[in-house]
Amino acid sequence: MGQEGWAEVERYITGTLIRPDSVLDAALRSSARAGLPKINVSPPEGMFLTLVARTMAARRILEIGTLGGYSTIWLARALPPRGTLTTLEIDAKHAMIAAANIRRAGLSKVVEIREGPALETLPKFEAEGKGPFDLFFIDADKPSNPEYFAWALRLSRPGSVIIVDNVVRGGAVADSRSRDPNVGGVRRLNEMMAAEPRVMATEIQTVGSKGYDGFAFAIVLAASKRKR
Ligand code: SAH
Ligand code: DHB
Ligand code: MG
Repeated sequence: MGQEGWAEVERYITGTLIRPDSVLDAALRSSARAGLPKINVSPPEGMFLTLVARTMAARRILEIGTLGGYSTIWLARALPPRGTLTTLEIDAKHAMIAAANIRRAGLSKVVEIREGPALETLPKFEAEGKGPFDLFFIDADKPSNPEYFAWALRLSRPGSVIIVDNVVRGGAVADSRSRDPNVGGVRRLNEMMAAEPRVMATEIQTVGSKGYDGFAFAIVLAASKRKR
């Protein structure tokens, strides 16, 4: 089985387990109409993000890479009353489309979109007293993954979960000679996670409508639980 089969199975899973949702559909339609790239998480992946957020009862979520707000809506819907999600987006048009989609989802009061390069926004958070976050979803420019991971750690607490999208890249990640900066960003992220006593991490490979890829899943450890 290859790409067409993976996409077919994803359609089957989506059709079986993911309830049709006019708000999420509208978010994808408005994103497509505005010419945004179709690189949002798939519906089953969006449900997975919601499930993780609910499992851990996340009250503060930080997303890096908003696009049209599709993953944002999946994550923000998992929040309890008074929970908040902050999402970082460099592209003004993406941020504008996302704001409209988030408004349509009734989540404007829950979601804050911060427009600008994430590496300029993140240093402001400590002064603003914005952490710690319970759950991070890192899904922006891949060469910056190591920096985003370092910021997530700084803005975390023991028990925080850090998910990073697109860590397999069609298998290219295993090629140590790759000169693709996206692959380089993932490989440096992996080296950081491997060497970092404050986290326990794995990566899960995925196939589906977006091809062969995967995500990293890490938890931040309590000081006394490190280096086991
Ligand atoms: N999480 C979204 C998809 C994000 S696509 C979803 O699943 O629905 C990646 C997004 O990251 C794009 O919108 C891109 O503009 C944004 N991005 C790229 N570089 C960035 C940077 N330096 N800072 C913030 N956002 C960035
Ligand atoms: C790309 C980015 C993503 O976040 C993703 O999930 C898939 C593809 C990309 O830039 O090609
Ligand atoms: Mg992604």
